[in-house]
Amino acid sequence: MQQRPDAGAARADAGLTQTPTQAHAGRRRALKGMAAGLLGAASSQALASPARVDADPAPALDIAPWSLRQGEPVLWHPYGQPSSHERDVVRRSVTLKAATPGAASSLAPLHKLYGTITPNGLVFERHHAGIPLIDPDAHRLALHGLVKSPRVFTMDDLLRFPSVSRIHFLECSGNTGREWNGPSGQPVQVTHGLLSCCEWTGVPLSTLLDEVGYDREAKWILAEGADGAAMSRSIPIRKALDDALIVYAQNGERLRPENGYPLRLFLPGFEGNMSIKWLRRLKLGREPFMTREETSKYTDLMPDGRADQFTFVMETKSVILQPSPGYRLRGAGFYEISGIAWSGRGRIRQVDVSTDGGRSWQRARLDGDPLNRALTRFRIGWQWDGGPARLQSRAVDETGEVQPTREQLVARRGVNSTYHYNGIQSWKVDPSGELSNA
Ligand code: CO
Repeated sequence: MQQRPDAGAARADAGLTQTPTQAHAGRRRALKGMAAGLLGAASSQALASPARVDADPAPALDIAPWSLRQGEPVLWHPYGQPSSHERDVVRRSVTLKAATPGAASSLAPLHKLYGTITPNGLVFERHHAGIPLIDPDAHRLALHGLVKSPRVFTMDDLLRFPSVSRIHFLECSGNTGREWNGPSGQPVQVTHGLLSCCEWTGVPLSTLLDEVGYDREAKWILAEGADGAAMSRSIPIRKALDDALIVYAQNGERLRPENGYPLRLFLPGFEGNMSIKWLRRLKLGREPFMTREETSKYTDLMPDGRADQFTFVMETKSVILQPSPGYRLRGAGFYEISGIAWSGRGRIRQVDVSTDGGRSWQRARLDGDPLNRALTRFRIGWQWDGGPARLQSRAVDETGEVQPTREQLVARRGVNSTYHYNGIQSWKVDPSGELSNA
């Protein structure tokens, strides 16, 4: 027995508590909006049911095979799995250099995600020497240097401290780096996929610093990982005392091995590599420690040949996820444009969307109240006229920082740097409905 291809959609419509009168009122609003192109906050909310408003209110449904028998038992998967029909919603990696297989990254499928939270199995990865598989009972965190009483904490020790849970984005400073020289032709998973957003749970680092009695002379903290690269960075004490967390859980469960199990540092709004995974040591000192990762690696080469060091904050940024390259628009009509915005400086205040390559802009609506240093979802209705279009989004954060165009960014910083690219991203729409990064 075959299900009609539109049966699911018909069932969804039938489930709406919408009387025919309301449906027609909604349609009138939709038609009125067509003249405007982009449908701003007020008008797009009227489009809760954009299509199929004339569908039969009680359509006949075929009985599908799965409706005629008992389904799988409870505990089919003791740890739940996505539907097998969602098997293309996965991380992907780009380059794996044969000489250093552990120095690799994987990218989150942002274009297939909803809302703002990244599921744990899809959080992007960046490792410098592969994923260490750590026994939490054998793991220790040393806190020493300019402190009154150095300590070595077990995981059990750390779990006894007062804890907090906070939602924050995590972005690799190399994210979107391939757009420095113009459109890379790549889809959003490749251009922006070194980005995720989770609820992080752990102990404020300030609590541990109080516990060991830190010396007021201390200005920097060396954070070191237990991986084969001994990944290490210098953290300003200001950040440590402000909002840094020693994290053991994400999205309600313990960290995944690839995200730092059993313990990681988390620095909200700072470049991802500083949130040291598999954290084993914090040492307080007067000067930055000049580790490999802050001298040779994560520095920004400027046009005059000098390199900026210690560029921590991830700047105001946004990108349209739906639609984006890989999607194909099926004819002129209504589409919702939706994406994410974030800033390492604080909350997102405003996102504007353009469908004509930045000549005109309209305010998108934001989901809920934007959180501090977290992804914010934006949405706006769009009546596509079937012609060529160019979709862009531009974020403004609460400090007034406006996401720059690529041209503005290049004028300021040249094209030598790999890191901290936050330019406005453009998706080209062909009359065929095809989207591309061109
Ligand atoms: Co940097």
